This record gives sequence, structure tokens and C-alpha cells, in this order.
Amino acid sequence: MKKAVIVTGASSGIGAATAEIFSENGYFIFLLGRNEDRLQQVALRCRNGSSLLKADLAKAESLSKYSQHLSTRKDVQIEVLINNAGQFQIEDFASGSLETWKTQFAVNLFGAVAWTQACLPFLLKSGRGSIVNVSSTLGAKPITGTSAYSASKAAMNNWTQAMALELGPKGIRVNAVSAGIVDTPIHGFHALPDGEKKAVLDNMGKLQPLGRIGSVQDIAKAIYFLASPDSAWTTGANLHVDGGINLT
Ligand SMILES: NC(=O)c1ccc[n+]([C@@H]2O[C@H](COP(=O)([O-])OP(=O)(O)OC[C@H]3O[C@@H](n4cnc5c(N)ncnc54)[C@H](OP(=O)(O)O)[C@@H]3O)[C@@H](O)[C@H]2O)c1
Repeated sequence: MKKAVIVTGASSGIGAATAEIFSENGYFIFLLGRNEDRLQQVALRCRNGSSLLKADLAKAESLSKYSQHLSTRKDVQIEVLINNAGQFQIEDFASGSLETWKTQFAVNLFGAVAWTQACLPFLLKSGRGSIVNVSSTLGAKPITGTSAYSASKAAMNNWTQAMALELGPKGIRVNAVSAGIVDTPIHGFHALPDGEKKAVLDNMGKLQPLGRIGSVQDIAKAIYFLASPDSAWTTGANLHVDGGINLT
């Protein structure tokens, strides 16, 4: 039976790169996101088979029907879940709104929690499940204007450890990757005209101990390592893949 991975937020950025790495390593990929056109583009690059799950993780109550779709694929064994979907909004706390907090927690935390609960029966059945949560350096050390986002990732970090404790004895490993800054559509600067964008990226790169910002592949490779048997004795870890920025 073919091994399978579920990647949330697979339609773009880090999630799309992660789907490709798993595909290169022989996995069937369940690609979850809201934008079907972009999911289809990623599916074209997944040569070992894929299936689209057009779902909004902010609507936690509707997720069970998507997990039912997982059970229709009798030809694959789901071994890995990557909770990567996320939203990032910058807002001054003092003048900000509770809505900003609710929106980001709805996707970054509650969506991931609800989807993980829906997927757990499949991971348990495989007998060697692995979950990787995509967190952020901001979850450990926030910066101005990111209170809601940073708090949602801090909660994800703690939840990662709690799951590692509870699910370890059931054969499931749970780890997190705390990503540093990566050029993806989640950032406003991603859509800047080329010249302007290069200046922004160069300036941000100079702030990183390793002298550059990250690529989607930098993060995807770390996610794959934590999901794969190469990290078989690792659970509850939070791997910072951030050019060293958490040390500054
Ligand atoms: N880029 C960075 O600098 C950075 C740094 C640290 C951590 N991260 C984390 O990395 C993860 C991936 O972000 P990215 O940088 O790759 O950004 P991205 O390119 O904007 O990708 C975000 C993904 O999340 C999905 N998504 C958002 N809201 C969703 C919802 N309600 N339901 C289902 N899917 C949803 C999007 O898909 P649809 O639009 O199709 O729904 C998209 O595929 C996020 O968790 C982010 O917090 C990123």
C-alpha cells in the first residue's frame, strides 16, 4: 500500500514545497487548501498521486466530511500530517480588534486542532504516525505588531508538546518547525515590484546571522526530516529553521 501524507496549506509557499518533497520521496499527497486552482497546480507536480481537499480550516465544524473523503482511499496508508496552513496579520495591539485574534486563532490553532482530531484515526491505524506543526520563531519571541499571530504560534508550540506526551505511547510522534522569515505570499512584500522587493529582501537578509532570509525548501526539508523515520526517536521537539534570528 502506498504511504500518504496530508499537507494543509498546500496551495502555496511552504506547503506546496513540502508536498513536492514528500512526492519526490514516494508519498501520495492529500493537498488541503481553499484555492482549488492553486491546489491543482501543485497536484501537477506531485508525480506519485494526489487528491485535493478544498476545505476552509476556519470552519472547524465542517471538517468531518473531508476526513470521510480520506477513508474512501483504500489504496493508501496515511502516515503523516503536516499542519502548515496559516494566516499572518500585522496589527497594533492597542488600536487593534478582537476579530484579528479570532481570525488567526481560527486557522492557526483551532483549525489545526480540529483537523488533527479528524485525522488521528488514520494516523493511529498506520501504527507509526508522525505530525509536524509549522510554527514560527515569533511563537517563542514576538515582534511588534504580531501579538495575535505570535500568541497563536506560542499556543501551537505548547500543544505540540502536549500531543507528543499523549500520543507517543500510541505510536505517534509530534514535532514542530519554527520557521524564520521566508518570501511567500503570506507577506505583503511578496507582491512588491522586483526592484523594490530585492531591496527589502536584502535588508531583511542582513538582519539574519546566516546573512539571508529562508527559502521554502529550507523549511520543507526540515519538515520532511521531522516527519521521516530519520528522526524516529524525536518527539516534542521544536526545530528552529530561521537563519539564527531567534538568537538575536
Ligand atoms: N513565510 C514566513 O515567513 C513564515 C514564517 C514563519 C512561519 N510561517 C508559517 O508557515 C505556514 C505556511 O505559510 P507560507 O509562508 O507558506 O504562506 P502562504 O504561501 O500564504 O501559504 C499559506 C497557506 O495556508 C492556507 N490557508 C490559509 N488560510 C486557510 C484556511 N482558512 N483554510 C485552509 N487553508 C488555509 C493557504 O491556502 P488557501 O489560500 O488555498 O486557502 C496557503 O496554502 C503558516 O502556518 C505560517 O504561519 C511562515
